[in-house]
Amino acid sequence: MARVELKQEDRIILALDFLELKEAMDWVRRLNGRISTFKVGPILFLGCGVDGIKGITDTGKKVFLDLKFHDIPSTVKKASIQVVRCGVSMFTVHALGGLEMMREAVIGAMVESERLNVIRPKVIAVTVLTSHNKESLEQIGFGGGSSLDVVLRLAELADKAGVDGLVTSGEEVGVLRREFGDRFILITPGIRVGTLQEDQKRTATPREAFSRGADYIVIGRDITGSKDPEAVLDEILLSLS
Ligand code: C5P
Repeated sequence: MARVELKQEDRIILALDFLELKEAMDWVRRLNGRISTFKVGPILFLGCGVDGIKGITDTGKKVFLDLKFHDIPSTVKKASIQVVRCGVSMFTVHALGGLEMMREAVIGAMVESERLNVIRPKVIAVTVLTSHNKESLEQIGFGGGSSLDVVLRLAELADKAGVDGLVTSGEEVGVLRREFGDRFILITPGIRVGTLQEDQKRTATPREAFSRGADYIVIGRDITGSKDPEAVLDEILLSLS
């Protein structure tokens, strides 16, 4: 079983999509006690690299490294080895990279974790980006089916590959929980608490995502762009109780 028992405050992951490490670290410190896992994606990683990750983990917080690997299997395997050396808790690959690529990510992470005698970071496969809708999926060759069809097919591959979890929108998370039970850790981005939509298309509220079966939600701009981020977070935590 891949799922773990989580404390409520551990179920909200903040996306640190900032150009400067200082800004990211200000948020890590500011939300101490409210957020325990921070997502580092390409924006922050390209600016501060492994030092940035270490800056966060040194404060006792966890890092979800969201670089969404999508490359040939051997490259992704070696990249996954490097991820283990960074000391993160979870990291992403694109399920669209295919069965073999996802399998190599798991193997790379496993072999290096065993070698270093550290806890293996969870391998999380991104199914379909929450910024996609039916029209944009058609543009990239997924015409005919719904996003749910594509997500289900990719989830089956991820299952075979042995990945630990999936990133999936609030629209599909319920079906995945029903179809796969506790097989996967389910992480839902595209979370909206207000009217802000930006580039996200398949959105959900925190309550919707959690009630449908998400283990974690990923939220960025609705917190970091808010006038009262602590109040928004407290409201989300209330929706969990
Ligand atoms: O600011 P916002 O809440 O939209 O941020 C969502 C975060 O989750 C971004 O960092 C984005 O890269 C990430 N993400 C996503 N959809 C996915 C996978 C990751 O929005 N399918």
